[in-house]
Amino acid sequence: MTNNLDVIILAAGLGTRMKSAKIKILHSAAGRPIIDYVLDVASEICERPPVLVVGHQRDAVRESVGDRARYAVQEQQLGTGHAVMQAAEVLKDSNGANVLILSGDVPLTRAETLRKLIEQHANEKNALTLMTMKLDDPAMYGRIVRDTSGAVLRIVEAKDASADEKKIDEVNAGIYVFNANDLFTNLQNLSTNNAQGEYYLTDLIAMLRNSGKRVGAMIVGDPMEAVGVNSRSDLAVVEAEIQRRVVAKLMADGVTFRNPNTVVIDSTVTIGADTVVYPYVTLEGLTKIGEGCVVEPSVHLVNVTVGDDVHLKTGTVAEEATIEDEAIVGPYANLRPGTHLGKHVKVGNFVETKKAVFGEGAKASHLSYIGDAEIGADVNIGAGTITCNYDGVNKHKTTIEDGVFIGSDTQLVAPVRVGKGAYVGAGSTITKDVPPDSLALSRTPQRIIEGWAIKRRDELKKK
Ligand code: UD1
Ligand code: MG
Repeated sequence: MTNNLDVIILAAGLGTRMKSAKIKILHSAAGRPIIDYVLDVASEICERPPVLVVGHQRDAVRESVGDRARYAVQEQQLGTGHAVMQAAEVLKDSNGANVLILSGDVPLTRAETLRKLIEQHANEKNALTLMTMKLDDPAMYGRIVRDTSGAVLRIVEAKDASADEKKIDEVNAGIYVFNANDLFTNLQNLSTNNAQGEYYLTDLIAMLRNSGKRVGAMIVGDPMEAVGVNSRSDLAVVEAEIQRRVVAKLMADGVTFRNPNTVVIDSTVTIGADTVVYPYVTLEGLTKIGEGCVVEPSVHLVNVTVGDDVHLKTGTVAEEATIEDEAIVGPYANLRPGTHLGKHVKVGNFVETKKAVFGEGAKASHLSYIGDAEIGADVNIGAGTITCNYDGVNKHKTTIEDGVFIGSDTQLVAPVRVGKGAYVGAGSTITKDVPPDSLALSRTPQRIIEGWAIKRRDELKKK
């Protein structure tokens, strides 16, 4: 962490190769906009918020980033050099000796790599130190041209490169540390005399060299650190790498994965030690899972809080829900928003819940719909019970007090209340409140007609 440095993040470009209505830095990877990863690493390097150069969709970018950055506006995207010029005004009163320049679309750079770059810059007393990488396919990256002594001479953009220059496998990662004075005094001298008619930031290298300044380069070992998101396939590469890092971190923190290559886990998710995660699990958003849980195959959670020692069985789906310690859910349960399961609750197969609060030890083990309901402690809800919460216009509430026993295949026509300790007989349709400790029964009495089936068969034979 240093105060001797300012960070500029270039983020004005739309990213046309994404073929998207949305600016590329707001596309999500592992549950967060890619710009967030760049802001994270910037905040690890420098206390002062970075200067974000915005252009396309700047309102949406500001709304997403908020006060994590200072802003400079680039009205027209006239090149990376021109983008940095726009940040000069914001930094004019800064006493930072150096400027670190990052790209908003390069989210995988590690803080320790940037620290090494800054260290090398100081040790070598450079005017500029840039990050480079060696690629089997240097594609559209700017090529690093070195002299016979190995010093960096200049960068030539792919579109301006000769056939020989195109063969150079060392490329510009787009990450730079500049001496602030050398940067801002020379920016004014850039021209647009190149294939793209843009102000190239990369032209500063030759410019600095020609005025006798030192330019250094650090070759980064893992090219993944410099992958830019320019297309959907780059986005998938970035997502896979973040996933890999998230799972590696969780394993280091004590989480077991039966098959780590099959899970999808947002970088915003937390999981406690000794939890076991089975294959094909998807955990999204602000999902938090406690310690000692079992998360079986095909569980999908979005913004769900799970306590300790919870067992989520195969195919359980939940969103905006809370599940307290030692609960057992599924297989194939659907917990919709507003579900809150207390300790030791059991919600079994093919049970759907919505805006339903279950008290400690309550059970709905099979085939039920429980919506807009408050279920007391130790309530037992029989198989096939349905809360009839919707009259076609409004939703109504069902209240079931502590210790109630609801027989199988009951319909509870809301609004309705079943008092503490009451019983409801199987197959009942409950339309009126049930007093505490009573029995409610609404079935028609059973009739028996002896020998009826024999007669029926005889009649059919005659026909
Ligand atoms: C740039 C480098 C290239 C390097 C590559 C690494 C230049 C001239 N070339 O090329 O050497 O190998 O990055 O990824 O710098 N931006 C603005 N305003 C602009 C133009 C760009 O803010 O007017 C932003 C973009 O939003 C993006 C970043 O700068 O975040 C890089 O721009 P991009 O157009 O992707 O540059 P490349 O062609 O990839
Ligand atoms: Mg780029």
